[in-house]
Amino acid sequence: MKNVLIIGATSGIGKELAKLYVQNNCTVIITGRRLQMLEEIKAENPSKFIIKQHDVTDNNATLQLFETLKRELNTIDLIIYSAGIGDPNYELTWEKELPTLQTNVIAATFIYGLAYKLFRVQGFGHLVGISSIASIRGNRHVPAYFASKSFQASYLESLWMKGKRSKAKIYVTDIQPGFVDTAMALGKTFWMASLDKATKQIYKAIEKKKKKAYITKRWAIIAFVLRRLPSNLLYKFS
Ligand SMILES: NC(=O)c1ccc[n+]([C@@H]2O[C@H](COP(=O)([O-])OP(=O)(O)OC[C@H]3O[C@@H](n4cnc5c(N)ncnc54)[C@H](OP(=O)(O)O)[C@@H]3O)[C@@H](O)[C@H]2O)c1
Repeated sequence: MKNVLIIGATSGIGKELAKLYVQNNCTVIITGRRLQMLEEIKAENPSKFIIKQHDVTDNNATLQLFETLKRELNTIDLIIYSAGIGDPNYELTWEKELPTLQTNVIAATFIYGLAYKLFRVQGFGHLVGISSIASIRGNRHVPAYFASKSFQASYLESLWMKGKRSKAKIYVTDIQPGFVDTAMALGKTFWMASLDKATKQIYKAIEKKKKKAYITKRWAIIAFVLRRLPSNLLYKFS
């Protein structure tokens, strides 16, 4: 039976993944700021869910969370960082860019680092980050979000490299979704995957310990094109 920590599991991808891991007999620690959502999820299976109200932008609270979990559970097999925000910011308002950087860059880096160091001490573990197809190129409407996802993807690849060379059995997976039908997706758009389909594909990619996975799989085609598209064409579509 595995212990799985999902950071940012009050809604969307994190919440659905949490349910899948509980169905597969894991103990799942779910976090997020919205306590009521955590309590509603726990009520579905009280013996399998552990809830911790937590704001990822508070580093001291994050340190405390990790210390408490080490004490309560001894080891954690899998840590998934699913917390994320990002809104369009046409006027480049700093007050809008900052929370995106605090959540997707600063907090993500802090938590990736704590997870990696925990795995090195316990001798094993799997870290999963949810970046995005947005990691591949820039976007003039949502610049901080796209840049933050690029940062996450690059940082996760660095940790993957460290894991490969480590004596401990450390795996790192970067999940790169296209559009998934959650609150974050802001309405219908092309190739929008249902939450159920996307989460099942993410689960499989994690179980296979993939280095990187596009969700849904056909977004690999968009990734291929995006990487090769000249900026002079890209700016007309983005
Ligand atoms: N949906 C898509 O189309 C899509 C595409 C590509 C990548 N992604 C990525 O997938 C991840 C999950 O997003 P989602 O689509 O599932 O969106 P979502 O339903 O909005 O979920 C976001 C989660 O992040 C948590 N969170 C945000 N800020 C937090 C904070 N300061 N402290 C703790 N938790 C925080 C939220 O919990 P609280 O608000 O309760 O704190 C919530 O549980 C994100 O990293 C997102 O960038 C999504």
